[in-house]
Amino acid sequence: MCGIVGYVGKRPAAPILVEGLHRLEYRGYDSAGLATPEAGGLRVIKTEGRVQQLRNLIKEEIPAAVGIAHTRWATHGEPSDANAHPHLDSAGRIALVHNGIIENSDRLRAQLTAEGVSFASETDTEALAHLIGRLMAAEDAPSLEEAVRAALSRVEGTYGIVVLDRDNPDHLVVARNGSPIVLGIGEGEMFVASDVAALVRHTQQVVYLDDGELAVVRSDEFHTSTLAVEASPVVKSPTTVDLVADDYELGGSTDFMSKEIHEQPTALARALSGRLNERFATAHLGGINMEPRELRAIRRVKFLGCGSSYYAGQMGAQLVEELARIPADAEPASEFRYRNPVVEADTLYVALSQSGETLDTLAAAQELKRKGGQLLGVVNVVGSAIARECGSGIFLHAGPEVSVASTKALTNTATSLAMLGLLLGRVRDLSTADGKRIVAGLRRLPEQVAEILAQEQAVAQVAARFADTRSMFFVGRVRGWPVAREGAQKLKEISYVHAEAYQASELKHGPLALIDNTMPTVIVVPDDELLSKNIGTIEEIKARSGAVIAVTNAELPAGLVDAELRVPRNETELDPILFTIPLQLFAYHLAAKLGRDIDRPRNLAKSVTVE
Ligand code: F6R
Repeated sequence: MCGIVGYVGKRPAAPILVEGLHRLEYRGYDSAGLATPEAGGLRVIKTEGRVQQLRNLIKEEIPAAVGIAHTRWATHGEPSDANAHPHLDSAGRIALVHNGIIENSDRLRAQLTAEGVSFASETDTEALAHLIGRLMAAEDAPSLEEAVRAALSRVEGTYGIVVLDRDNPDHLVVARNGSPIVLGIGEGEMFVASDVAALVRHTQQVVYLDDGELAVVRSDEFHTSTLAVEASPVVKSPTTVDLVADDYELGGSTDFMSKEIHEQPTALARALSGRLNERFATAHLGGINMEPRELRAIRRVKFLGCGSSYYAGQMGAQLVEELARIPADAEPASEFRYRNPVVEADTLYVALSQSGETLDTLAAAQELKRKGGQLLGVVNVVGSAIARECGSGIFLHAGPEVSVASTKALTNTATSLAMLGLLLGRVRDLSTADGKRIVAGLRRLPEQVAEILAQEQAVAQVAARFADTRSMFFVGRVRGWPVAREGAQKLKEISYVHAEAYQASELKHGPLALIDNTMPTVIVVPDDELLSKNIGTIEEIKARSGAVIAVTNAELPAGLVDAELRVPRNETELDPILFTIPLQLFAYHLAAKLGRDIDRPRNLAKSVTVE
């Protein structure tokens, strides 16, 4: 959420900064800006709107070889030129970009205003720029590093910041508390970003700052230390990221959502690779450092995640209960820490996060660790805050997910949880025969997902038929329930069509009142033990003139439904994974038909690093 780029080196900074922002635009896209030093001052160019609008404002070559830049997702103050970052102090000496939220900004703003400071924006960030600027204007002025430290000691909240001093433009000062910051190490040049996506074009050598750390970054060196006013040095060595610029390119696709939907067969194959063991009919999950005896001692499993990761957790809970016969449930991570949760010693807690940065999920993991809970992470981004907080778990191996709407990460999360369920089942009562059945089913998934994707045009035609609908129900039973929730979520976020998910069994307890010929229902109908119940629900909807779109692998009576989205057969336990795919395509094509900006849905951004 929000993107930061910084550069200090030997080349003109502006093109590097703008290109970096372009790579980070999925994290925020309501305004963008940059600052570089120039003779006698700072050159600041910023605008409401997309990075392309910023690019259009740069009319001439800017020679400065140092600068900072930002793409914003508004928290304090509407998207506007004035609220766009960078923000300056009153003297125009300090420029600062910030991700996160300064929680005591109102108090700081009031104190600074009483001291005569006038503010140019409504943001929480500007107060910090003034605090640093005022410290540096004092007679025995501290260095930028000292001023940043002192100013941050007055700040409550979360931040990843980069600060530039007009009078000492040979370095940047960078600090992190709750919002990611990574340094990119080049040859005679250094990069700073909130996400490696902005760096991999230039270098694979990176250093992740941890919370409570500060770095002074020069073109040929960096120094890291703790953030405390009485700082101690922290020695950090670069690590190599296994990503290249092409991982963040569209290739031949029109947008990242479509690209990532179509990457699912390969992403799934990567998640399964080396993790299925036919001989013992189980899963081998190397990141889970637990002996069979410890796995057996687990009495309950709780999955914690937000949004689509939470729905994947619901799919996982169902899988664990079916395969391992131990109670399992999923809970939105965003609520967890506020209800003073009872943390049980024999419960396995599993934090789910594609980005590994979602603040709510990170806070839930931290609460669990504080209370001594057994914690695993199921995360896509290696080196991310949640991956490091959890210490052990399962990496998704989905590859970078750029689309704001999650697709391949959800599929890989659900599949990873199926493997966890298999592992937990096989140290309990899941038979070898059933274990073999699940292993074989998991192996078939990549090919079957490809089979569903091959029917994309048929799904697109169904989506086009329903594109003028204002509201839809998504319903499913048991295994189909999280599929319905995820389907509704996908449709809402990229098409802005209202979609509400219900347990199919709950429809008659109230929402059926809304069914008429303007309210279609998408129903998840696996050919399982609940088929006749789902057919009953379809009949009830049809009797009230509601249109029905069935996602199904069953042979439904002719003429029963208005449209079918077909899914191949696999083991019923694994149905949720396959049934999710046509609903991704459905949401995608309905949104495309409505002309929506699919990779930049309104009001949203990737990686929610604020509360
Ligand atoms: C929906 C979507 C979000 C995320 C949620 C959690 O398509 O992408 O609901 O799933 O914000 O994000 P992660 O998984 O990064 O923690």
